[in-house]
Amino acid sequence: MADYDYDVLVIGAGPGGYVAAIRAAQLGLKTACAEGRETLGGTCLNVGCIPSKALLHASEYFEAAKEGGAMAKMGIKVTPELDLPTMQGQRIDAVKGLTGGIEFLFKKNKVDWLKGYAQFKDAHSVEVAGRTVTAKNIVIATGSSVTPLPGVEIDNAGGVVVDSTGALELASVPKKMVVIGGGVIGLELGSVWRRLGAEVTVVEFLDQLLPGMDGDVRKEAAKIFKKQGMALKLGTKVTGVTVEGQGAKVTVEPAKGGDAEVIEADVVLVSIGRRPNTEGLGLASIGLELNARGQIETDHDFATKVDGVWAIGDVIPGPMLAHKAEDEGIAVAENIAGLTGIVNHDVIPGVVYTQPEFAGVGLTEEAAKERGAIKVGKFPMLANSRAKTNHEPDGFVKVIADAETDRVLGVWCIASVAGTMIAQAAQAMEFGATSEDIAYTCHAHPTHSEAIKEAAMAVTGKPIHI
Ligand code: FAD
Ligand code: NAI
Repeated sequence: MADYDYDVLVIGAGPGGYVAAIRAAQLGLKTACAEGRETLGGTCLNVGCIPSKALLHASEYFEAAKEGGAMAKMGIKVTPELDLPTMQGQRIDAVKGLTGGIEFLFKKNKVDWLKGYAQFKDAHSVEVAGRTVTAKNIVIATGSSVTPLPGVEIDNAGGVVVDSTGALELASVPKKMVVIGGGVIGLELGSVWRRLGAEVTVVEFLDQLLPGMDGDVRKEAAKIFKKQGMALKLGTKVTGVTVEGQGAKVTVEPAKGGDAEVIEADVVLVSIGRRPNTEGLGLASIGLELNARGQIETDHDFATKVDGVWAIGDVIPGPMLAHKAEDEGIAVAENIAGLTGIVNHDVIPGVVYTQPEFAGVGLTEEAAKERGAIKVGKFPMLANSRAKTNHEPDGFVKVIADAETDRVLGVWCIASVAGTMIAQAAQAMEFGATSEDIAYTCHAHPTHSEAIKEAAMAVTGKPIHI
């Protein structure tokens, strides 16, 4: 057998790659991870999940403290003053702490960090920073980057037309912000700057926000964001963006055709999706082809068509989510080690971290109906004692179950803590629970999670509190 430098070489140290590398090392495999960024942690820790949550959390406090905000409703009167450099400082500190933590974990687990971008030479060797490194198994975990909008140039340093990375780093609050794309990034980062004082207009090509989520959730999302003061231009396409001085003019027109309109903005955020990172990897040299969406296809154990080459995370099909990438990272390492690593792609929760949060797991009502007969139970957060007491009336929980077997097919929540609530739904579905199983599980009172129990009770028409 050939002699390799490593048993496993992972390309990319995002949540997919760094987790795969640590798990492989834990399983006794000699492991290296190539990463071209200055810090480990990938998109998620550097410019994604973590910095966006740092600003979402801080801006929530700011909004709660505003006149007529949540704090005033509870008898706490303050006049908030925005100190944006400090707010941005704590974002930077959060990133520093967590990316440094991954470096510590690499050292602890004896994972070698190969600093630089890797390119395949053949299926068992890559070049990193001018050095050739060989491995018996190579895992591609190169993640994704922003999908550009044709004809619109992103210039994060200029601070006018930006992507999510630029929108995280703004040095002042824009007076007017146009968000192109009413998906997860647009709504999360649009919410941050709206709370801090920007007038935000979201331009979405489709008739509703948040594609992929349940229909009821999408409709409610539009109502909630409008109520919060966001201007929504649904069914609208952007036909051009021109930068003029310190601002931009965004030309839009109805997606189905009609009169054009120009919206002025100080900042334009382009958030129309992300695409897999495969350029420059030298995939042609190992005979690995991409699918029509530019992704690397794998079989269920994350092996590609090329022997010894595996792939996980945003670069393969499925939702582009950190926890999906992490679970695939564990599974691929276990498969390489000869164990059985599995990810149940039917049960991957998704959360939008606005306020309220929007979360779901499993099938939407629309998809479930296509599959067969279903029963649906719904419960409003307004009737949940804790949400009502906390002045958080928006939202609902919806449980979708198979009409015949009662097995839970999907759960959707809009609530202040929907992201936390959805975990129990995912666990129940993973164990093949019925709506009756959830309805008869004792839930602590008073908690938002009781709304999941009541929605499950509503599947058979018997909730208590409505
Ligand atoms: P990535 O995290 O993209 O990491 C890939 C790494 O590979 C990068 O560091 C890159 O530098 C490196 N790389 C690429 N090519 C090479 C090469 N040739 N050689 C060496 N290194 C290479 N998901 C959630 O679940 N929750 C959230 O709250 C959330 N918030 C987000 C907010 C924003 C603003 C963005 C942009 C994304 C967010 N995501 C969130 C998505 C999440 O960040 C991704 O799904 C996740 O990071 C994917 O992990 P990954 O390991 O596949 O790739
Ligand atoms: P997205 O796919 O969530 O939303 C993009 C939106 O842009 C869609 O609604 C789409 O219809 C719209 N769109 C596409 N082209 C358009 C055009 N020309 N004009 C107007 N609208 C257009 O993508 P987004 O928000 O960029 O996020 C990328 C990925 O990052 C997400 O898919 C998600 O997986 C991940 N992410 C996850 C987060 C979380 O889990 N909380 C937070 C942020 C990102």
